Amino acid sequence: MVKANSKSNSSPQPPRIAIAIMAAGKGTRLKSKHPKVLHEVGGKPILAHVIATAKQIVPAEDIFVIIGHEAERVREAVTGAGVNFVLQAEQRGTGHALMVAREALMGNGNRTRYDQVIVLSGDAPLITAETVKKLSAFHTAQKAAMTLLSADLDNPYGYGRVIRKGARGGAEVQAIVEEKSATPRQKELREINSGFYAFAVPALYEHIDRLSTANPHGEYYLTDMAAVLQRARKKVVAIKTDDAGEVLGTNTRAEMTVLDARLRMAKCRALLEEGVTIFYPHTCVIDSDVEVGADTVIEPFVQLLGRTKIGAECRIRSYSVIGNSILGDRVTVKPGTIMEDSRVGAGAVLGPYTHMRPGSEVGEGAHLGNFVETKKIKLGKGSKANHLTYLGDAEIGEDVNIGAGTITCNYDGVNKHKTVIEDGAFIGSHSTLVAPVKIGRGSYVAAASCITEDVPEDALALGRARQSVKEGWARAKRDAQKEIRR
Ligand code: UD1
Ligand code: CA
Repeated sequence: MVKANSKSNSSPQPPRIAIAIMAAGKGTRLKSKHPKVLHEVGGKPILAHVIATAKQIVPAEDIFVIIGHEAERVREAVTGAGVNFVLQAEQRGTGHALMVAREALMGNGNRTRYDQVIVLSGDAPLITAETVKKLSAFHTAQKAAMTLLSADLDNPYGYGRVIRKGARGGAEVQAIVEEKSATPRQKELREINSGFYAFAVPALYEHIDRLSTANPHGEYYLTDMAAVLQRARKKVVAIKTDDAGEVLGTNTRAEMTVLDARLRMAKCRALLEEGVTIFYPHTCVIDSDVEVGADTVIEPFVQLLGRTKIGAECRIRSYSVIGNSILGDRVTVKPGTIMEDSRVGAGAVLGPYTHMRPGSEVGEGAHLGNFVETKKIKLGKGSKANHLTYLGDAEIGEDVNIGAGTITCNYDGVNKHKTVIEDGAFIGSHSTLVAPVKIGRGSYVAAASCITEDVPEDALALGRARQSVKEGWARAKRDAQKEIRR
């Protein structure tokens, strides 16, 4: 019997690959009390974008996020991703970040746990899985000890510069020089180090202790591994990406706005590609995880946020802000509608200026109109509340008509109570429904009623003072006033 990994097996085993994401730094240049990698671009933390990319390459169990500054907050923010965390308690540089990951990547057996580690920067969210895979494959093919992803930038200021090895060196790299240590001539080089690398795990850890802190920042630079490995006669190469935009980092707030705009435009392009019409896409704010069905039209100045899902053939009109909500097909959202954590059935019509607060569930073909506020309600199929209404903590059946100005009084100052309105009921305008209260199936509530007791099925409830008319009263009053003036 031949063992799977014995020498007699002619095709080489694919490398066992881990991904390390450096996310321990403070981000001093942002002047923020929040860790840099938790600042949001494209509607989610910078680090969450990098993790999502990493997960397209290796399973979550082979991803190691190196955390340090505000480690617990960072861990909490991305804990759902199922990745591993390595603590870099003191942040002594990018080289040091990899030093603390030694055990995670080497393991403690005879053979190292991984053959290759891909190093990603937790502050560079535009990198695509495709580019990282190219980097990794190039590294494997070159049998290199270190491979870095480089890019040509028009303005390379602030980045490490790649010093290639002589004219005949081909892909080989002599060293990476950081901005602060670069000579004027080196500063003219436009080929920069992206901060993305692949390393052979054994070579990395055999030599990583040769890094020193003799540099302007007094830190262990991972970039110095290029020169360290060169001196040890190991192969160091660079592969240049075609899309320099992918490597941009977020060191300043200004850079963050650039990345945010890029991510959002990329999101709009992807949706356009999937059959969604977006007019004036540069005015819309659509988060990365939002889904929209084909033939839906999105007008200018719309925000679709969080995990919002919108069906096909909907129309989302201007100035609507929809967060974490699910809309069925053929829903019309008229201008200025605000929606949070809500669900809307197919063919419903909302707005203009409807405010749906968390837990609002609107059935198929239902309508909510001008200045209607809802919170934690179920509104059945075909039911309508078209004007100036507050519906909170209410269960409303099908084909119910709610007149203008109706209010559910759900709060007694201490507790919230429920209003139930059964199928086919008709609530006259300006009614006040004092919860807990139930309006039976098919019954009528007369306009301007204050309802404090349950109404049985098919009844008419009047809860207002009977109208009385005093004939001639106004004329008599006017005459009396004339008398006084005389
Ligand atoms: C780094 C590179 C530079 C490259 C640039 C690309 C070094 C020394 N320089 O510079 O050549 O052009 O990225 O964007 O590596 N981090 C840790 N622990 C630490 C320090 C940093 O995890 O002790 C993390 C940070 O959170 C960040 C990443 O490493 O996500 C990069 O660190 P940063 O300080 O932004 O490096 P740059 O100055 O941008
Ligand atoms: Ca950076």
